[in-house]
Amino acid sequence: MLRAKITGTGSYVPETVLTNADLERMVDTTDEWIMERTGIRERRIAAANQGTSDLAAEAARRALDAAGLAASEIDLILVATVTPDMLFPSTACLVQGKIGATRAAAYDLAAACSGFLYGLSVANSHIVSGQYKNILVIGAETLSRVVNWKDRGTCILFGDGAGAVVLQATKGNSGIVTTLLKSDPSLWQLLCLPSVGSRIHASPLDVEASMHTIQMKGNETFKAAVKALDEIVDETLGAAGVKAAEVDLLIPHQANIRIIQATAKRLKMPMDKVYLILEKYGNTSAASVPMALDEAVRTGAVTPGKTILMEAFGGGLTWASALVKW
Ligand code: ACO
Repeated sequence: MLRAKITGTGSYVPETVLTNADLERMVDTTDEWIMERTGIRERRIAAANQGTSDLAAEAARRALDAAGLAASEIDLILVATVTPDMLFPSTACLVQGKIGATRAAAYDLAAACSGFLYGLSVANSHIVSGQYKNILVIGAETLSRVVNWKDRGTCILFGDGAGAVVLQATKGNSGIVTTLLKSDPSLWQLLCLPSVGSRIHASPLDVEASMHTIQMKGNETFKAAVKALDEIVDETLGAAGVKAAEVDLLIPHQANIRIIQATAKRLKMPMDKVYLILEKYGNTSAASVPMALDEAVRTGAVTPGKTILMEAFGGGLTWASALVKW
């Protein structure tokens, strides 16, 4: 039986750091409030000449290096993002050009913060079906471009970055065990970016109303996230026949420390089995899980034989999980 195995990971963050102290000078907030309510201390901001595809391409190069694979051997590039360079061509096509993946197919996937795990699930199906052997799945965002820097309820949360994995067909026992994808449109207005799209065109009036920036009802989103993630981790472990105690490491979407703690509590998992990068990078949406995974691999927190549970929640609403035997 064919399995999809993660054979290389990579990530990239821009150099510029925006700290909570910087934010104190921009909006009415404090480092104490942000740390207590979110767990975030700083985030990265892309340079003026960097688009999402630049961040994604660098993360992809590092993942290819780690896998020992040439870009020309990649069959498919999937980029999960809600901040593409432009509506078309896709960011995946731009990444293809930047890394020289000459024979790959390429497309973008939009599922907000759950996008990377959606991409991993789709890539897994492509591999298990025998269609492709080598796939790059990338989560990349430049959320700093779509944040309302006057809204203290959202601008403190988000940052820029990219994470990537190389997924390869294998016949061994390690690899993706199961993935679960969920969505519910009834609460889409809790978290959205209304413009630019086919409905709202970013006219001067729309821009004045900040329609081109992230709109979020934070408290309701928070409650929806905790409920959805509680359910999905139970269902994922049930589907795989794995007990929570058998999970070696939880790699959650890095949105808010309190949401992460709630999921860990549900799993009766001590926080030292939860991999966190939230404090350094904030919420990087589709990039957050692969960035955390890459750091966990490089620091030795993920080693062969370990069972890793990944989960994410975002706009749509969407939520998703993946259980991986490393
Ligand atoms: N500094 C100081 N005070 C603030 C700030 C701030 N930065 N932001 C809000 N406040 C105030 C509010 O105005 C409010 O004041 P009031 O009581 O006088 O009205 C008070 O703090 C409490 O506001 P809440 O919104 O209830 O605060 P909460 O504890 O819910 O924290 C937060 C807000 C951090 C946004 C939280 O709700 C959250 O993290 N939500 C989930 C975000 C998320 O996970 N999004 C999903 C993924 S994102 C994606 O898909 C792109």
